[in-house]
Amino acid sequence: MAEIIWGLATSHVPPIGLAMDHGLTGSPYWKPLFDGYAPARKWMAENPPDAAIVVYNDHANAVGLDMVPAFAMGVADRYEIADEGYGPRPVPPVTGAPELSEHLVTSLIDDGFDLATLSRLDVDHGLTVPLSVYCPDPGDAWPCPVVPLLVNVIQYPQPTAARCFALGRALGRAIRSYPDNSKIAVFGTGGMSHQLAGARAGLINPEFDRMFLSAIEHSPEKLASLSREELIEAAGTEGIELIMWLVMRGALSDNLTRIHETYHVPASNTAAGLALFEDLGAA
Ligand code: DHB
Ligand code: FE
Repeated sequence: MAEIIWGLATSHVPPIGLAMDHGLTGSPYWKPLFDGYAPARKWMAENPPDAAIVVYNDHANAVGLDMVPAFAMGVADRYEIADEGYGPRPVPPVTGAPELSEHLVTSLIDDGFDLATLSRLDVDHGLTVPLSVYCPDPGDAWPCPVVPLLVNVIQYPQPTAARCFALGRALGRAIRSYPDNSKIAVFGTGGMSHQLAGARAGLINPEFDRMFLSAIEHSPEKLASLSREELIEAAGTEGIELIMWLVMRGALSDNLTRIHETYHVPASNTAAGLALFEDLGAA
């Protein structure tokens, strides 16, 4: 059976990708952020998965606001890079894993999570920036195929943190029942605190972010008990992206070890966090 070898939580702020695409990672503004990523990148490069499940949100680039599934899974064999208004990022298209997608979506539906399926999906910064955090120099191809798992975080009412954590638990069961010996990584993306518009635009809450970074390891149930409104109040309207970290954490077993974490303010308008966990599996 397949096994989950690690989980990565990371922010997906578009300028993190632009900094890489334009050779700016050594600039005074960006260097501290990318220095913080270095140990995680080194460890992940030494522990490559056969496939990655990337839990992310589309920002109305591929999934229009007229029809927004709470949860959806990509089932394609290839995902093009979305044009978000400034041309597609100069990164390779994303190779899918349609057989794994079909297994996961079937298992999740049988487990009570009725996901929508997307057979055509252009992936935006929500997916490509986390891939770049994992692999800064992909060359012609990303190092592994990807299954996108989409969560609605942009249109009210977003799924609850508890539901996302439960989806993660079901995702973990689904991955571990895949009948091959592949090694799987799970990405939880977005966050940390940020708000891009409205009266509280610019909000950053380091105290909440530090609490979240710490609790995600051994007290994820505490985070899963936060209501949608509590999350938005503490972390901002876009900070609710953190519910996707709970999907990732739910998929991991509780026998895990933290390989690395970093926290940096600001990355554009956002508090950027990263946490990398090795899943040691059944104790
Ligand atoms: C920013 C953050 C986001 O999560 C996003 O989707 C777009 C922009 C930002 O901080 O600029
Ligand atoms: Fe976002």
